[in-house]
Amino acid sequence: MASSSKWSHRNILKKFGITIGSTFFPFSLWAKNETGEPLILPENPLYKQLLKPVTAITLGAGARGNVYGDYAIEYPEQLKIVGVAEPNHVRNDRYATRHSIPVANCFFTWNDVFRKPKFADAVIISTPDQLHYEPCMEALKQGYDILLEKPISPSEEECRNILDLAKKTGRIVAVCHVLRYAPYFIKLRELMQSGRIGEVISVQHMEPIDHVHMSHSYVRGNWHKSNETAPILLAKSCHDLDVLKWMLGKDSKKIQAFGNLKWFRKENAPAGSRERCTDGCAVESTCPYSALKIYYRERQRTYVFDLPEKKRNQAGAIMNYLKTTDYGRCVYRMDNDQCDHYTTNILFDEGITVTFNMEAFTPWGGRRTRVMGSMGYLEGDMHRFKIYDFRTDKARTYNTHINDVEHYKNEGHGGGDWRLVSDWIQAVAQHNPNLLTSTIDASIESHIMCFMAEKSRQNNEVMDVII
Ligand SMILES: NC(=O)c1ccc[n+]([C@@H]2O[C@H](COP(=O)([O-])OP(=O)(O)OC[C@H]3O[C@@H](n4cnc5c(N)ncnc54)[C@H](O)[C@@H]3O)[C@@H](O)[C@H]2O)c1
Repeated sequence: MASSSKWSHRNILKKFGITIGSTFFPFSLWAKNETGEPLILPENPLYKQLLKPVTAITLGAGARGNVYGDYAIEYPEQLKIVGVAEPNHVRNDRYATRHSIPVANCFFTWNDVFRKPKFADAVIISTPDQLHYEPCMEALKQGYDILLEKPISPSEEECRNILDLAKKTGRIVAVCHVLRYAPYFIKLRELMQSGRIGEVISVQHMEPIDHVHMSHSYVRGNWHKSNETAPILLAKSCHDLDVLKWMLGKDSKKIQAFGNLKWFRKENAPAGSRERCTDGCAVESTCPYSALKIYYRERQRTYVFDLPEKKRNQAGAIMNYLKTTDYGRCVYRMDNDQCDHYTTNILFDEGITVTFNMEAFTPWGGRRTRVMGSMGYLEGDMHRFKIYDFRTDKARTYNTHINDVEHYKNEGHGGGDWRLVSDWIQAVAQHNPNLLTSTIDASIESHIMCFMAEKSRQNNEVMDVII
């Protein structure tokens, strides 16, 4: 708990909640504009008090499994984790301890969970991309509600099978398209759909990955081979195509894509570089992708390593990971194939055109969006956006940075991560998918845009988007 002498919103609400037995907190109060007004719209009128926490089993206790699990730690009256499946023993043990999960409910792999009769309301599927489909189908068959990490599946056919079974069983399947729950995008959507900038004519949207993030996840890391996980557009930018479609509130008709792997290739390896940064590379001290710099000296992104809890023992463990895993390998000598730049043109209903760029080579992350309207213009970077009104010749800036950090420990994806969990819990508790915006139906549509973009890129064709 962050320390503070003053009463915060959350403390007041928590206290109030304990007094009256309330079990939810109005997250929308936490985001404010530059003048301190609450940014988001009124409370969700569909929220109801929970009589007991929703119970869930986490499949895959890695980074995402912990983002969602941590919500249960912070709000035990809303969510209780009662089981875990995770083959990595360190993660399995740590997760079980953190959530006080009995040994009988700790499993090595997701399959083991479904050998037992149903023992929770829901499952959280946060396994690697290629391990979403089977657990999701099995969970639906057994009557679980689901929080499903994106991508739904790397295969279009499997996505459609999940949709069919979800419809047949009537279970809740929330896809973790977390940007739909971020205050910034909620407000942008409202402004785009309200006529404040007239009719939307076109959009330019960019996902700057950040060069180090690119090297970490898509050159060295889990997603470096597209056929073992998912093509980068689906793995990384399915969020962007999804949020674009959602903000416009229109169907896409045609899509065209270009992109390739231009830089992280063997022919670009500098003279004097070695297989590993730890092997005496001659350019290590000046290389922006030096594993020694990123993981060892600067301790960035070390969450991928299962480090000893005591800080003094961590340096040796990190060095060992750099000597033995892909995270220590030279970024120019990997067996990666993901595009490091990707351009997509999309034609939406009513002639609206959208360009989307995924870019590896930027100094920062955080999506950039420009919306051209007949009567105005919007421009934003996920921290703030500016709206220009051509009729009044005035501009206004909204600061959507979640400045009440003290009350909000998880700011992942502009605050979308935990807001999604909150809506999902309500949806499960009330058996009402209307609490969610990223239902399986809605999410499949933007996944199909990604599949079509990939086909376009590979076959050099403009593709029709047929849902
Ligand atoms: N919504 C988002 O914005 C977002 C962000 C990052 C990742 N993701 C997605 O979330 C998923 C998990 O990503 P992550 O970053 O947490 O990866 P991770 O590698 O940290 O976690 C995945 C975990 O699944 C475990 N696992 C592997 N096989 C398993 C099995 N058979 N049964 C149970 N567990 C198994 C792994 O050991 C690992 O701990 C991926 O699909 C990823 O694309 C989504």
